[in-house]
Amino acid sequence: MNRKVSWGIIGMGVMGTNISRNFASQGHTVALYNRFVKGKEENIALKCTQEYSELKNALAFEELDLFVSALKFPRKILLMIPSGLALEKILEELIPMLSQGDVLIDGGNSHYNDTEKRASLLNEKKIHFLGMGVSGGKIGALNGPSLMIGGNLDGYKIVNRDLESIAAKDIYGTRCCSYLGLGGAGHYIKMVHNGIEYAEMQLLAEIFELCMTSPALNFASIHKELSVWKKSFSQSYLLEITSEILTYNDDGIPFINKILDKASSKGTVAWAIANGALLGSPNSLMASALHARFTSSLKSKREKLSKSYKIQKGKYETPLKKLKKVYDVSRLINHHQGFEMIKSANDKFSWEINFATVARLWSEGSIIKSQLMNALVKEFQKNDSIIEMEKFKKEIIDAQEDWISIIKYALDNVVPIPCIYSAWNYFISMTQSTSNGNLIQAQRDFFGAHGFQRIDQKKGTLSHGPWSKKN
Ligand code: 6PG
Repeated sequence: MNRKVSWGIIGMGVMGTNISRNFASQGHTVALYNRFVKGKEENIALKCTQEYSELKNALAFEELDLFVSALKFPRKILLMIPSGLALEKILEELIPMLSQGDVLIDGGNSHYNDTEKRASLLNEKKIHFLGMGVSGGKIGALNGPSLMIGGNLDGYKIVNRDLESIAAKDIYGTRCCSYLGLGGAGHYIKMVHNGIEYAEMQLLAEIFELCMTSPALNFASIHKELSVWKKSFSQSYLLEITSEILTYNDDGIPFINKILDKASSKGTVAWAIANGALLGSPNSLMASALHARFTSSLKSKREKLSKSYKIQKGKYETPLKKLKKVYDVSRLINHHQGFEMIKSANDKFSWEINFATVARLWSEGSIIKSQLMNALVKEFQKNDSIIEMEKFKKEIIDAQEDWISIIKYALDNVVPIPCIYSAWNYFISMTQSTSNGNLIQAQRDFFGAHGFQRIDQKKGTLSHGPWSKKN
């Protein structure tokens, strides 16, 4: 093989294929690799070159060594395969074929800890390893994703111009592609992104269900209402697709009524929630969203229990006009929790991830792009705490009455609203100077002599309660 190309892309799933097309459209020469699995995955890379005109000059491989030898030095290789075993397997085979100075990028949704380990292992071999969060789904991959990059900085300098060329452009024309820090920083930010994404999706699902309890509302009228929201500060990509989904019918039946109500998840948000818990950074909205998916997937249990417990529902009309404010303010809390997590991670991992940069990265190309995200790009330059931003304070204060009435409405109509309610609980907990934490401290001390700090003693002094004499 004489002809050598600039980029090698491994994994011709939907994301890998589309990102390859994107690279080729931007003038990069590419080699494509997909594994050979008899009867299941045969000639996949070759078929991509035949099916997509952008890829007609791409080289196609099923043998990894031939693929590697078709790349110019330093080799630039992008892995677009599912994290976990599949990735482990290919890395095992691929790494011995690489040389010092090559750049290897994991563009899947890997756990940031695994990325950290791989980065330091490959650092010893002087192979530059980058963990890259890619957001935007299949359309983003094709037309411009949001790229969140972490790992070896020298490696990033080799590929950054090429990666920028395939990324989305923000409203100022700057590419949504940035280096965020060493090791797993890129994948960490993608993990938080997914947590915010889950809560954004769940909030919309709750709004939809609240509306559907009203006899006066139907798919068409909810779509109409969301179309108005789309033109306001509530605008987001997820709101737009939700509104559009409601317009689809199948044999005269709304299409979503034909979809089994069991929501799936691939695990990245479980990692995000666990990480927030380890950092002590509340992320109750993403947790509520994930738990809502879990309960939804327990379909047969739900069906059984629904026969044993018949909870009386009220007959009220959805206070439609109040929903929008509650939606907006719950989103603010969701974004606030996500960015607070990044703040804690910066401290813990000695990263210096800039909030305005992250908001800018997410403002285009990504699944959570929105007007709010664009506003945050500016606001983070003045303040790093969303609920303390002057721009939103009045909105949060004004929403309180509606928030309470929507929660009451949900209670009366037996509508689960875990995310909206989590947002409210977080908000009221965070805006009260006293908490019930003193009782928890007393309980801990009572049964476990864990000790507590008295309010009349110096910080760090541990005291015990009078019960210690009894126990
Ligand atoms: C994106 C998405 C995507 C994400 C899926 C998986 O930004 O394009 O975040 O990368 O991994 O949405 O989510 P599930 O866990 O719902 O499958």
